[in-house]
Amino acid sequence: MVISTLLIAHISFSNSTNGMASTFFIPLLKSGMNLLDCECGSGTITAGLAKVVAPGLVTGVDLELGQIEKARVYAQEQGISNISFRVASIYELPFPDETFDAVFIHALLQHLQTPLKALREINRVLKPGGIIGVRDDDQGGFILAPYSPQMERIIDFLKQFMRHNGGDPCVGRRHRELLRQAGFINVQASATCEYDGILEETQKRGNLAAKLLGQMIETVIDLGWASADEMEELADAARKWGEHPDAFDAIIWYEAVGWKV
Ligand SMILES: C[S@@+](CC[C@H](N)C(=O)[O-])C[C@H]1O[C@@H](n2cnc3c(N)ncnc32)[C@H](O)[C@@H]1O
Repeated sequence: MVISTLLIAHISFSNSTNGMASTFFIPLLKSGMNLLDCECGSGTITAGLAKVVAPGLVTGVDLELGQIEKARVYAQEQGISNISFRVASIYELPFPDETFDAVFIHALLQHLQTPLKALREINRVLKPGGIIGVRDDDQGGFILAPYSPQMERIIDFLKQFMRHNGGDPCVGRRHRELLRQAGFINVQASATCEYDGILEETQKRGNLAAKLLGQMIETVIDLGWASADEMEELADAARKWGEHPDAFDAIIWYEAVGWKV
């Protein structure tokens, strides 16, 4: 499976970066904690977390070297020194047992074939009493107006594509179950709603949907889900939807925290 292809089929993006962890996770962090940000991507969230736990150390890991390089540059630009990055898979973290006080994992579980295996690996590297925070959008909670059969079809394609790659577009609602099965206790789940309610935001969302369709096109045609012409029409419909003066969308992000025994 090509991870980078799998990950781009992700229609959600957040308009804020540090805000992603602010309400459900950051209040539980303390200065001096040793924190791991799994699948750190370009490192914007990691940098925010480093500011919160300073002078504690933050480590960001990601499977892709390109992302790690971007994350290093970003941290340098921000003047953050209590941070380091390395290439690693969430399934085989290169750290001894009981290394971290806290672990954060944002927008990855939904793409994984075996999220439980990843959570058990995180449990291994957490210290007893350590905390995990997870957050995923749940594509079952994508709501938009005005009604557009093409936009509904695009959302269905994205879910189908994620499932085809082994992910679960509705993993968010299973956070409690997965964390409990991985051995965490006092698991608490919550949700937040992200929305686009002004033209600038809906344009961005419509253009993102069109871009994702372009990236999926080969797979979709190979699998016989749609023709090239139909994909073009859908991309066009996504851009037009984004320009509509009444366009609005909302998506639910599911979050959970739990503690290692
Ligand atoms: C949707 S992005 C989320 C990035 C970041 N957490 C955020 O929310 O901005 C998922 C990231 O997970 C990384 N990734 C995919 N599979 C992984 C794995 N098995 N172990 C670690 N990182 C992985 C990808 O390279 C990508 O940067």
